[in-house]
Amino acid sequence: MADPAPGAAPATPAPLRLHALAYSLGVTAAVTAAARLGLADALGEEPLSVGALATAVGADEETLGQLLRALACHEVFRETEDGGYTHTEMSRLLRTDAPAGRRAMALLAGAPFAWQIWSRLDEAVRSGQSVFQDLYGKPLFAYLHQDEPELGALFDRAMAKSGETTAAAVAAALDLSGTGTVADIGGGRGTLLRTLLDRHPALNGVLFDLPQVVADADPALRTGGELADRCRLVAGDCHVGVPVKADTYLLKGVVHMWNDATAVAALRTLARNAPAGSRVVLIEQVLDATDTPEIATVMNLLMLVSQGGRERTERELRSVLTRAGLEFCSVTPTGSVVHLVEAVVPGP
Ligand SMILES: C[S@@+](CC[C@H](N)C(=O)[O-])C[C@H]1O[C@@H](n2cnc3c(N)ncnc32)[C@H](O)[C@@H]1O
Repeated sequence: MADPAPGAAPATPAPLRLHALAYSLGVTAAVTAAARLGLADALGEEPLSVGALATAVGADEETLGQLLRALACHEVFRETEDGGYTHTEMSRLLRTDAPAGRRAMALLAGAPFAWQIWSRLDEAVRSGQSVFQDLYGKPLFAYLHQDEPELGALFDRAMAKSGETTAAAVAAALDLSGTGTVADIGGGRGTLLRTLLDRHPALNGVLFDLPQVVADADPALRTGGELADRCRLVAGDCHVGVPVKADTYLLKGVVHMWNDATAVAALRTLARNAPAGSRVVLIEQVLDATDTPEIATVMNLLMLVSQGGRERTERELRSVLTRAGLEFCSVTPTGSVVHLVEAVVPGP
């Protein structure tokens, strides 16, 4: 290791860095505990003592102090000089009403099923398969919707809220001139579609997702009003068929759920019913182009262990599109964590 620059703090020795890494599951647990306790909602704009916070969330004062100290170490809450706590930019994102908030994501990240699947990552790496089916007897989405509907709703909320971080950047980077109808396949509750319809007043949209997800779509897309008039909700399973005609099909954070064979098959199924010349735009983190590899590489493992999927390099995304019979066009950065990976449905 190179010597630190003069005046720079000495680097933490490797054994201690690895020690911290090995125990970083405790950080996940702390963030999830903060979300479950509702700490961020209990703390307003003024600092509060640990005692006052403990009373507000129904916790033991001393042990809440332990939790807050651990979180503050990662800039989630900040300790004040008199031993109270105040918000930071990150702790505010644990508030229920925070724009682009991460409370639902924190609850999902530390949900019991997540601990179960992560604990068997080595098996998934050996076998190349998800461990989900073995643990729960069915794939992730069947489990979420059939066995744990509240968890299913939490998953959809987590996606909708975190999608608020990227929606504007994606909408700005996505050229929709010449598109009359855009379809968001696996579009969740419609965060991205709503942003696109807001931005393009003449655009029509289709939100396609599993029945339980579409039933809970963003109310602005569902019930009366100008946006709902321009939006059609279609419930279905994209492995079975996508009965949607559009000029542009978006799949954001969808193809990464699947291994190559499943991704190719699903894209073929989509293309079967898509008009010749229509565009298919994958919106994904691109492993070899991302500015946030610490997120992309962990998501890569999460996709593996939960669904047998993977994040991909540009070449791998291009290969999946080409093998599905689509004509690869381009990769475009959005200035957010995702890129647009575009292809066209060829003529007959
Ligand atoms: C990782 S989420 C991404 C959601 C949204 N596109 C976003 O970026 O926030 C994957 C989405 O695919 C949907 N999905 C999973 N399997 C599906 C299937 N077989 N057919 C249609 N949608 C599916 C899920 O319900 C979920 O909304």
